[in-house]
Amino acid sequence: MTEQKATNVYWHEGDVTREDRNKLLNQKGATLWFTGLSGSGKSTVAVALEQALTAKGKLTYRLDGDNIRLGINKNLGFSAEDRTENIRRIGEISKLFVDVGVITLSSFVSPYRADRDLVRDLHEAAGMQFIEVHVDVPLDVAEERDPKGLYKKARAGEIPNFTGISDPYEEPLKPEVVLNSHEMSLEEEVNVLMALLEERGLLSA
Ligand code: ADX
Repeated sequence: MTEQKATNVYWHEGDVTREDRNKLLNQKGATLWFTGLSGSGKSTVAVALEQALTAKGKLTYRLDGDNIRLGINKNLGFSAEDRTENIRRIGEISKLFVDVGVITLSSFVSPYRADRDLVRDLHEAAGMQFIEVHVDVPLDVAEERDPKGLYKKARAGEIPNFTGISDPYEEPLKPEVVLNSHEMSLEEEVNVLMALLEERGLLSA
């Protein structure tokens, strides 16, 4: 748990509640957390789900590893410490979006179980739904895809601490959803997630 540095700071409650915002949007905010190896298909499924939800009139926002690392987290690398801080910040950002009422699609390798569990705990303590989606493909499938040529570089020793090659990936023990993107079509993946959102009551206020 990150230490609270500032003292004498207090939460200031407003008069408009999360429920009020959910009603405005006719949906409930929640985080879908996509975790898996680089090249597993996390961002692909998040992009497709975002489109399907938008077509239904639901407000979503995608938070994505590469994009966030080009902006708010540009000062972080890939050491275990930096990955933990990366995920902690994204967890807090996801919570802010959920508080707005947005269905938040967060795709990060997030290789450490403890980091993901911390984000889950942060959400659940605030009464927010956290849905962990393991986009699970065997390493050789991700490596074969290698959309950014990173596995090739990692094998050549040009990228230190590369997840799956020279750095660990700790699989989720009890994810809400497992998507085997090498055995399912993108449409099937979206359908599974859409059905879950419906079942959880997130598509109405
Ligand atoms: S995380 O481990 O901290 O969750 P994050 O999802 O933000 O990672 O960023 C992963 C993305 O950064 C990958 O999709 C890949 O494109 C790129 N990347 C660059 N170096 C590494 C590395 N050493 N390990 C994993 N991904 C890396």
